[in-house]
Amino acid sequence: MKQYDFETVYPRYDTNTTKWMEIRKYFPDGAEGIIPFSLADMELPLAPEIRDGFKAYLDRYVLGYNNATDEYKTAVCNWMKTRHNWDVKPEWMLPSNGIIHALYSSVKSYTNKGDGVIMCTPVYYPMYSAITANDRHLAECPLINRGSRYEIDFECMERLAKAPENKLLIFCSPHNPGGRVWTKEELEKVGSICLENNVIIASDEIHFDLIRPGIQHTVFAAVSQEVAANCVVMTAPSKTFNLAGLMTSNIIISDQTLRELFWEELKRDTLYPKCNALGLEACRIAYTECGEWLDQVNALIARNCDKVVDFLKREFPEVVVMDMEGTYLLWMDFSALGIESHKLAEMLRTEGKLFFDDGYIFGKAGDGFERWNLACPKKYVEEGLIRLKTVLDKHKVK
Ligand SMILES: Cc1ncc(COP(=O)(O)O)c(C=O)c1O
Repeated sequence: MKQYDFETVYPRYDTNTTKWMEIRKYFPDGAEGIIPFSLADMELPLAPEIRDGFKAYLDRYVLGYNNATDEYKTAVCNWMKTRHNWDVKPEWMLPSNGIIHALYSSVKSYTNKGDGVIMCTPVYYPMYSAITANDRHLAECPLINRGSRYEIDFECMERLAKAPENKLLIFCSPHNPGGRVWTKEELEKVGSICLENNVIIASDEIHFDLIRPGIQHTVFAAVSQEVAANCVVMTAPSKTFNLAGLMTSNIIISDQTLRELFWEELKRDTLYPKCNALGLEACRIAYTECGEWLDQVNALIARNCDKVVDFLKREFPEVVVMDMEGTYLLWMDFSALGIESHKLAEMLRTEGKLFFDDGYIFGKAGDGFERWNLACPKKYVEEGLIRLKTVLDKHKVK
């Protein structure tokens, strides 16, 4: 079997990438010694099938306006069936140039100004903006922290769903930053609370392919036909295959009324919603040729995760780490070390040259946490652990 290369480092310091532009603010003079575990894109080489496929595509096509082709739609439907056991019809798919945009569109499609949107927190921070920037209010359903995993507070969710002003649930599945892959039973409970109370579900499943071997992800709309009819599923190849710069996602809505509302909103935003030609082609190639690449990436992420978890158990047992069932983002609670959270983040960056995402950006319950992006070469993780130990040993309150 073909073994993919995940150890070659592609220098990104000078490439205007969002993650590294942030890092440059701290180290404007060069990339020497920096280890980036922040923002959720991969520090891994592009799948060679996509690189080669692009070259072939560019030999044949110019890059004018583009529509999703039948081959493209078939590739998406096949992926959903084979990887997620989910039957999708091509006409259910709507183009969108990213999940954040689709989150904003969902809020505008299914709620009015002043309405409430339910969300389980802490959570991926742009979801808060999708609500507040559109003059809706957050109906917060804090996740229950059981130490190594988050659980949904169903009583709180039911209470919020019963309030007539709360019209939409934004749901992060798998959960970023907590790493939970929600079970079918959990989804069924959430699904029926929403159905009983006329709350529409917008399920952000951008991480749905990044699942730890042995764990099963269930697409929300695959729970039942009734739930599917009340559900918008947001999927993309961007997180899975590291294609975020191509701004291509697939919003899948089986219910015609919900789909038309979403489409009308896209058209209000921009008369002709457009697709990125290279994004569509990358998605088609990824979904037809890159399954093995993805399996090897998931295995690498699991190995990186085990390394960090074993190390922290041994060296810093006070640090509480959530089980990373999905995503490539490890959620670690450092608060028992007694270092103030902003100070800890600053020390990791300036003394360790280690860049994580600070927990407080995901909501107040994230304070004291750091989020570690493990989609990277194993040598980054090994060196990162040595540096982490040096910084923590120096500063932890004994
Ligand atoms: C849960 C979640 N949703 C959406 C996004 C971003 O989506 P997009 O780049 O397609 O706007 C991310 C990126 O980290 C994410 O983690």
